[in-house]
Formats: sequence, C-alpha cells, structure tokens
Amino acid sequence: MHAKDKIIVALDVPGLAAGEKLVERLSPYAGMFKVGLEFFTAAGPAAVRMVKERGGRVFADLKLHDIPNTVAGAARALVRLGVDMLNVHAAGGRAMLQAAAAAVREEAAALNRPAPVLIAVTVLTSLDREALREEVGIEREVEEQVARWALLAREAGLDGVVASPREIRVIREACGPEFVIVTPGVRPAGSDRDDQRRVMTPAEALREGASYLVIGRPITAAPDPAAAARAIAAEIEMVNQ
Ligand code: C5P
Repeated sequence: MHAKDKIIVALDVPGLAAGEKLVERLSPYAGMFKVGLEFFTAAGPAAVRMVKERGGRVFADLKLHDIPNTVAGAARALVRLGVDMLNVHAAGGRAMLQAAAAAVREEAAALNRPAPVLIAVTVLTSLDREALREEVGIEREVEEQVARWALLAREAGLDGVVASPREIRVIREACGPEFVIVTPGVRPAGSDRDDQRRVMTPAEALREGASYLVIGRPITAAPDPAAAARAIAAEIEMVNQ
C-alpha cells in the first residue's frame, strides 16, 4: 500500500474555509480526511462534500451511540453522503453494532457502491482505569475492555476499531490480521506531543500493526503542512520497504 493511503489527516477546524484550505494543500499526500464532531457540527454535510469534490476520501468520525434504529438511520444517511469510513461506539452493544453493520451494507448495496469501512470506538483514551471503574462502572483493566469490545465489534460484523498506539498489539492478537485498526496519537520523531500522552512515531505504529494513521496537528499546525505530510509519507515508505 502506498503511504498516501495510510494517512488520514484530522480536519479539526471550525469551518468550511479552513478545511478547504487544508484539503487543497494536502490532497497530494493524504488519501483520506477525518471530518469529526467539530467540523461536522459547524459545516454539516457540506464538509463531506467539500472533501469528496477535491478527490479526498472521508472518515466521518461522529462516534454514533444511540438505540439501534437511530444509529442505523444515521449510518444510512452517512452512506448516502458518500463517506468512505464511519464509526460507532462499541458501548452501544451487540444489537446496535449489528444494526449499524446491516444498515451500512444494505444502503451501499442499494446505491450500488462499495460499503464504507465501519469501525468501533472502544474505551475513550481520555478514560484511565480509575475513571473507567469509579465513573463508568467497568471493573476491568483498560486493555482487557478494549480487546473485549474489539471482539464484540468483529462478531457484530464491523470491519475494525479506532485504537491508541498502545492498544494495537492486543487488538491485532485478538482480532486477526484482516481487522482494520485506525490509530491516532501518532507523532513524528522530534515533534511536539501536544496533549497526547502516549504517542508513537508513524513507523512504530505501523510496525505494531496499525492499518491507518490519524494525524492532526503535526501536519495541520505545521508552518508548511504539505512539507510535514511529505516527510511523514517518506517515513512510512521506509517501513514498507
Ligand atoms: O492533532 P492530533 O494528531 O492529536 O489529532 C488526532 C485526532 O485523532 C484528533 O481529531 C482527535 O480527536 C482524534 N483522536 C485522538 N485520540 C483518540 C481518538 C481520536 O487523538 N483516542
């Protein structure tokens, strides 16, 4: 796989104009762009259309979590919008995950398009063991819960999960080589860690078994975003060799 197909640039921007500027500069180096809650809430479906019109693929990072019928409806709407990847919370349970998977498959088939990649969010990385136990009421170790939810997602027919670099190995072991693992928290060697606590370089994350890397500020906040993306792509090409 080409480096460009491994990089998902996080468009954490407040509006359409800022997103457009980034996509124009970065589409030679990144195959996919992540439209998350901030951008989607501000700009709506136009955010997705803007990326698609410029030839980019879209990961709609909206982390759907509701009753099965509602999640299925939102997933269908995202398929109609033309997203290439979307996600739901594994905490929604088996019935919700199965409903999302069926909705994505059926809607894509009805439109005669390939189905987008459907992945699950497991334990939010902002929760540590203490918060998971005291506030959420889950007694397990974080990694154990992550593996459990990853397996549930796979059983329910999802394609993969979003996972922090330190969780890649346990998920790969539990879910096998075909399972898609999308990994944020990646920082090129020597760059600012921002608010990310546990980071890996792009090369390390790929060696651990990541399928795609979500990279935001190391590219989008760089003085020259295109040069930063090029440097990361070069690092990834080294791993491929
Ligand atoms: O700027 P940075 O590279 O930290 O951006 C990473 C992106 O991945 C952000 O959009 C952030 O919301 C997302 N993300 C994350 N950690 C997670 C899940 C998602 O950083 N566990």
